[in-house]
Parts: sequence; C-alpha cells; structure tokens
Amino acid sequence: MLMLLGVGIIVVLGIIIFKYLDCDLTLLWNLKYGKQPNCLAGKVVWITGCSSGIGEGLAYEFASAGCRLVLSARRENLLKEVKQKCIEISTLTADDILVQPLDLLDFSSHPSVAETVIKYFKKVDILVNNAGRSQRGLIVETALEVDRQVFELDLLAPISVTKAILPYMIKQRQGHIMCTSSVAGKLGAPGSGTYSAAKHGIQGFFDTLRIECAPDNIGVTMACPGPVFSDALVHAFTSEPDKKLNVEMQKSWNRMTARRCAYLMVVAAANKLHEAWLTPNPELFYCYLFQYTPYIAKKIAVKLGQGRANKVKAGIANLH
Ligand SMILES: NC(=O)c1ccc[n+]([C@@H]2O[C@H](COP(=O)([O-])OP(=O)(O)OC[C@H]3O[C@@H](n4cnc5c(N)ncnc54)[C@H](OP(=O)(O)O)[C@@H]3O)[C@@H](O)[C@H]2O)c1
Repeated sequence: MLMLLGVGIIVVLGIIIFKYLDCDLTLLWNLKYGKQPNCLAGKVVWITGCSSGIGEGLAYEFASAGCRLVLSARRENLLKEVKQKCIEISTLTADDILVQPLDLLDFSSHPSVAETVIKYFKKVDILVNNAGRSQRGLIVETALEVDRQVFELDLLAPISVTKAILPYMIKQRQGHIMCTSSVAGKLGAPGSGTYSAAKHGIQGFFDTLRIECAPDNIGVTMACPGPVFSDALVHAFTSEPDKKLNVEMQKSWNRMTARRCAYLMVVAAANKLHEAWLTPNPELFYCYLFQYTPYIAKKIAVKLGQGRANKVKAGIANLH
C-alpha cells in the first residue's frame, strides 16, 4: 500500500515537472537561489538582432536589470522604438542606450562597428550574438545556395562579430559572450538540417572559445531555446534561395514567450552558466535524452523524427 502511494506521488510529480518545467534543472536552481538580473546593473550589453522577437525581449530584460545597451539589427526604425520602450520601463536615459545599425552579412563593417561601440561606452561587458534566421526544408530539396546563406548568417556572422570585439575584451581583461543557439544545436532537427548544422557549429566554436579565453577572464553562455513566439517563421529560409517561409505564428501554438525566454537567458548570463536549455516539454526531455543517452535518443529520433520531416514536406509550419 505504502509502495503504491510512493509510486503514485512520483508519477504525479513527474507529470507536474513535465508539464510546467520550461528550463533545465541547473538554470531552475539559479532562478531561485542564484544571482538575479540586477547584479548586472551598469554593465554594457551589446545585443544583435533586437528589432524583434527574443532579441527585443533581451533588450527589455537587460534594461530592467539596469544594463546600458547597444541595440543592433538592420531595421533602425524598430531599434529606435525598442530604445524608447527600454527607457520607459527602466531607470536608463537616452545616453545609456546606443542604437547601432548592423547588417551581419556586411562582414567588412564588423571591426568598425565594434570600434564605434567601444568609442561610445569605452567597453563592452556582454556581447549577445542573438540575430539569426531559422530554416525549413528537407536536406534533399534544399539548394546549396541556401545552405551557404544559413551558414553565413547563423554561424559565420556571430563568429565575425565576436572576433571584432574579442581583442577589446582581452584588453579589458574581462567579458562575457552569450549566443542564442537552439535546441536544434543539441540534436538533429528534421526539416531544419542546415539550421541545425549552423547551431551545432556555434556550439562547437564557442565551447572552444570558452576554454581558450578562460585565462583572459572571458566567459561563454550558450542559450538553447526551444520553440519561442517571434517573427522567426516569417523570415525563415526555405529550400529555395531568396524565398522566405512567410508564416505568422498562431497564439494557440505551444511556444514560450520571447520575454520569458529573454528573462531565462539573462539569469543564465548573470550566473555565467556555460549552457542553458530554455524550452517546455517535450523538447526539454529530448535535450536530457540526447545529452545523457545519445544511443537510445538517436534510435528513437529516427523513428519519431519521420513525423516532423513529413510535416515539413506537407508545408506545415508548427513543428514539435
Ligand atoms: N523563435 C524560436 O523558436 C527560436 C528557437 C531557438 C532559437 N532561436 C534563435 O533566436 C534568435 C532570434 O530569433 P527570433 O526567433 O527572435 O526571430 P526574429 O523575431 O525573426 O528576430 C531575428 C532578429 O535577427 C535580426 N537579423 C536577421 N538578419 C539579420 C542581418 N542580416 N543582420 C543583422 N540582423 C539580422 C533581425 O533584425 P533585422 O531584420 O532588423 O535586421 C531580428 O532582430 C535566432 O538566432 C534564432 O535562431 C529562435
């Protein structure tokens, strides 16, 4: 009888954890007992891709924590609106926020943009490589030109921006780099093969950077969100070059809000976590499965992943 009760309690707890948990257990612990975002007050944070989605959420969360900001993306008008909202919700003044337009694909501009940022604030404490575009298309149908464009934006561009700011961080003997990777950077995502490859690429690059730059007091946090509400599916690459997916996310979809994702990322940065998984289930469960039992996980993925691949083939945008 007692044993049955015990099993019952474990099952109920399991269901609750499965339903309500939206980040990994290390981050969960830090949310409750770790450093809170306001420990970052006064830091200079440069965020790429903050004209919408997760990056916009990051701007508000870092602003609320009292950080001074550099806001970058291509659409300057939207960046100015984000700046205004940051001022409204925080104690920051206009001088505390630099709107710095940046086209990540204009690689030659990155060193001079970094120089401008340093001239303005004299330092950068945290760089958030957030900008990027998702991708939908089966590998066999996707043009090599699309693969090239995804790698340029989602892999090479964050590397380039990081290389532009790194010498300054090394000189100032401290710094932190955060990347918006993805759950697709931890496991193969059928129907988003090139995106998954690019995100696996940044995991490998920045995991190495963390080791190489530890003596310079530079840390790295890899944030791996699952599905998040944003404009990602409007702008996602498809199998054809220069054709966007153009799908608006529906409110009824099971996704995390961009603000919640951003808040979790800021807590991860405040605690200098090496990696954080920010996602509801089942993706969170997949992360644990792939991390700790890759053989079993990959066997299951071959079977269950067919459903996701078929959805992409059928043009269905809401994938889980
Ligand atoms: N949404 C999700 O479900 C999800 C899940 C996991 C990871 N992520 C990652 O989260 C990051 C942000 O995406 P999001 O979901 O927030 O999508 P989003 O709303 O479309 O935001 C993408 C941002 O990237 C910027 N960007 C795109 N191309 C750029 C370029 N060439 N130069 C400079 N900036 C550029 C966009 O600004 P401009 O157009 O103004 O330049 C925009 O601010 C991406 O790295 C994405 O891979 C998203």
